[in-house]
Amino acid sequence: MASERLVKDVRAVKDLVVPAMVSDGAGVRLKRSIATPTLDHLDPFFLFDNFGSENPDDYLAGFPMHPHRGIETVTYMLDGSVTHRDSLGNQGIIQAGDVQWMTAGSGILHEEMPHAGPRRLDGFQIWVNLPRQLKMTTPRYQDVSSVRIPELDAPGGARVRVIAGSVDGVEGAVREIFAGPSYLDVALPSGATFEHPITRGHTALLYVFRGQVEVAGKTVPSPRLAILGDGDVVRVRAPAGDARLLVLSAQPLEEPAVRYGPFVMNTEDEIRQALSDLRQGTFVKTGPASAPAR
Ligand code: CO
Repeated sequence: MASERLVKDVRAVKDLVVPAMVSDGAGVRLKRSIATPTLDHLDPFFLFDNFGSENPDDYLAGFPMHPHRGIETVTYMLDGSVTHRDSLGNQGIIQAGDVQWMTAGSGILHEEMPHAGPRRLDGFQIWVNLPRQLKMTTPRYQDVSSVRIPELDAPGGARVRVIAGSVDGVEGAVREIFAGPSYLDVALPSGATFEHPITRGHTALLYVFRGQVEVAGKTVPSPRLAILGDGDVVRVRAPAGDARLLVLSAQPLEEPAVRYGPFVMNTEDEIRQALSDLRQGTFVKTGPASAPAR
């Protein structure tokens, strides 16, 4: 009991990132907060994209077949739908509320093609880096439909979808990820608060995409990525009007990292190897035969 910390350190906002408008894939316009000239990465997060538009011209070109190695790519849809296909033999539609957590490991080829829907396309993609010992792991794919993502009413009035990590003993839908991530979608009605413990030393960030929140005395409008300082808990409040945000945290890898397009490896040599594998047709080490069941 004596060793229990009686006072919890609340994480403050260390930095606010204004998303940059970029075009990626075959011409998808999106808001990028990590993997920009101002913020290359936030160990272990190597990309943070928020795509969202009512205009199909902004997204229909999609992301035709492309490779990944050395990372995990995580897609979370809020609205609209995306058809995906990959070299493991998976094919399906990611719909509103679904998550696709793809561990690229040794190499995967995939495409992600949005549909022109009656409503807007809205969602997120993040990249989580893999540690040295898992860079070349067998690709794995966790396709989680919306109904399998636990949703709960937290004390303080927040409605929380637990994609990864746990809230009040409720385990997220995505598990066994090396970096021990939390990935929460938090809806705060006006005046509500949400407090969430985050392991000391883990990287933590918030992405506010609706309304505004207050974090340790600082107002964070949308759309903004807020990088949090160290501490034991994050505490957010919606001071005026409804707000919605993602709460993300993970253990930093603290390893050398070299990024080249869709690859993040430890060394330049490993990047050269990835490019040479692509040229020689030996990039994909695991094919459809080992595709996991959904
Ligand atoms: Co991709």
